[in-house]
Amino acid sequence: AIKSITATQRLDSRGNPTVQTRIVTSNGTFTSLVPSGASKGDYEAVELRDGDDSIYHGNSVLKAVRNVNEILGPAVCKAGLDPATELKRLDQLMIKLDGSNDKGNLGANAILSISMALARAGAAARNIPLYEYIAAEAGLPTDNYVLPVPFFNVLNGGDHSGNSMAFQEFMIAPVGASSTSEAVQFAAETYASLKSVIVAKSGKSAIGIGDEGGFAPPIYHPCEALELLTQAIEDAGHTGKICIGIDPASQSFFEHGSYNIGFKTETPESLQPSELAQMYRSLMDSYPIILLEDPFGQDDWQSFVEFNKDCPIELVGDDLLATNITRIKMAKDKGACNSLLLKINQIGTISEAIAAAKEAYAAEWSVFVSHRSGETTDDFIADLTVGLRTGHLKSGAPCRGERVAKYNRLMDIEDELGDRQLPFKYAGPNLRHAQKL
Ligand code: PGA
Ligand code: ZN
Repeated sequence: AIKSITATQRLDSRGNPTVQTRIVTSNGTFTSLVPSGASKGDYEAVELRDGDDSIYHGNSVLKAVRNVNEILGPAVCKAGLDPATELKRLDQLMIKLDGSNDKGNLGANAILSISMALARAGAAARNIPLYEYIAAEAGLPTDNYVLPVPFFNVLNGGDHSGNSMAFQEFMIAPVGASSTSEAVQFAAETYASLKSVIVAKSGKSAIGIGDEGGFAPPIYHPCEALELLTQAIEDAGHTGKICIGIDPASQSFFEHGSYNIGFKTETPESLQPSELAQMYRSLMDSYPIILLEDPFGQDDWQSFVEFNKDCPIELVGDDLLATNITRIKMAKDKGACNSLLLKINQIGTISEAIAAAKEAYAAEWSVFVSHRSGETTDDFIADLTVGLRTGHLKSGAPCRGERVAKYNRLMDIEDELGDRQLPFKYAGPNLRHAQKL
């Protein structure tokens, strides 16, 4: 049984306050810390911030903390439901208490922090690892697993860094590794090579990093980023084994119907949607790009649909879908993309995140699990990725504790599956169809 649920205010990786929740049951104490985005979409569940300019520049989350301590926590304790088997009902109870469509009354940060800790408490009550609990909740296999290809965001732009590059993320994906641990090794080696390439090109002052641990050198055009990556991959000796994913997060530079890739400079450079699409296609012709996320703005359905026709690569909806089943169904009907970006704080409960993944699988889409740019040391999404069999996730560079926490947990899971003598496979090049492996 649940004995107590309490929350406090802690910091995330940008130094902003976030919610930490602690649940005590007869099996122990279970905590969670919630992440926070910078390039947030309009369709995300609402993160409650106090807006009191006298502390933390308005970013404190004391209301959300109070909502856990005084409203959500007591109600969840009193409900007498068992997190071992009734996560969905517990999440539904919180959704009902909030009463809004976007969790804006009590706060998605408050609700998610409880949902995450409940899942951990439920797993402990059943004496199983969190990834197995999630697989069981999702109705996926619990006797064999798929380990993901990690996508490492090694060059940061957009709203995540101070350089003038509009595109937010350039990720390296070691699909040619033989395991997640080897993928981590390939990525860390390439990251170190990238540092040398940047120093050689722009000097030591250029190796500062962005919010997700990737370098943020003084570059502007996506081609410059891809050239740096190509050189680093080659220097590290991994050519042919590492593919590339790009998240332009184009909502950040969508202005009045066109895309201003000069938005971080003094000189606007506006591209029509068709010109931007052409730029993506020519990049795809020249570099080993296997994934493109949010190439267009969250309401630019027409451009998404057009690009998705005969799209040879994974086309991921992030701001477009906001991990929201209604938006996923809309996108499915229109044929707007072929993959769901899964961010737990976009929707605000674990059971809804699982339902969103299943909705995507039902449409024959892939699922790509994601951290936020404001993260914490909480490694929940590593277990979520393995449990949901998504075959890939992104958690930033192989650098900064809050990013590395997830990769380290994945390697722990890989070791643990070996110890448990459970069969598992590395998703590798099959990452888009991992749930069928
Ligand atoms: P965010 O960025 O966490 O700042 O929203 C991540 C992304 O766009 O995928
Ligand atoms: Zn994104």
